[in-house]
Amino acid sequence: MRNFAFIAVILFGLTVAIPFIEERPTCVVKGDPHHTTFDNVSYNFSGHCAYTMVEDAVHNPPLFSVTAENMFQSGEKNARVVGFTVTVNGRSLTARMGKNPGEVMFEDENNLKIQHSDDFWEGSDIHVIKETDDTRGEDRYLITTLVGVDVVWNGKYRIEISIEPSMGSAVVGMCGSANNDSKDDIKTRGGDVISSVDQPDIDNFANTWEVTNSCNTL
Ligand SMILES: *[C@@H]1O[C@H](CO)[C@@H](O)[C@H](O)[C@H]1NC(C)=O
Ligand SMILES: *[C@@H]1O[C@H](CO)[C@@H](O)[C@H](O)[C@H]1NC(C)=O
Ligand SMILES: *[C@@H]1O[C@H](CO)[C@@H](O)[C@H](O)[C@H]1NC(C)=O
Repeated sequence: MRNFAFIAVILFGLTVAIPFIEERPTCVVKGDPHHTTFDNVSYNFSGHCAYTMVEDAVHNPPLFSVTAENMFQSGEKNARVVGFTVTVNGRSLTARMGKNPGEVMFEDENNLKIQHSDDFWEGSDIHVIKETDDTRGEDRYLITTLVGVDVVWNGKYRIEISIEPSMGSAVVGMCGSANNDSKDDIKTRGGDVISSVDQPDIDNFANTWEVTNSCNTL
């Protein structure tokens, strides 16, 4: 995922801001779900609950998190990722696919439907913009936060989570940390680094990131 950033330079005594494109560490969850971590480890996990993809590892309780929801769709053998919740400072936005094709729903931390204009919603710490993704020819929703965690969602089964590069090791979850070391991405909530990506090991790792009580409500 790319982000415009600015670098200030001094030319002939004038300070000028020059835009450049900054690569943001990005984690992808899609389908029934296939995961790719910030440091590019791929694995599959098809639990049918909500799971923490990324969470603030510095503060307790965490200042922010992104959790993803997997649900069985009729006729499917595996659960698919159908939505997610972004939480910042105790406020949250939940986005979910609706029952009808193309329909999406947004809720706040009190499970109240968010009223929004067609293409924009601005909460205190979380903003949503709807736009057309020209490369894919489909709508997409950009969820941005004041803490540097962003989500791009196609309104269907694909979620991309990105963070500021400087947040590198300060995050945990199923996306791993973004320290350019793929060997420590599969780390349990308890802090154990798992070196194998065999399915039983991945399942055990992922289950430690299950959101408490989420299995009952999905
Ligand atoms: C990520 O890993 C895949 C193999 O799983 C590889 O093909 C790809 O080049 C890697 N991408 C980066 C940016 O390292
Ligand atoms: C995940 O599932 C896909 C499709 O079923 C498969 O192609 C891929 O190899 C699997 N990846 C891993 C890491 O097992
Ligand atoms: C990871 O590698 C990228 C590209 O080389 C670099 O820009 C970034 O600063 C590195 N991140 C960390 C945490 O070392």
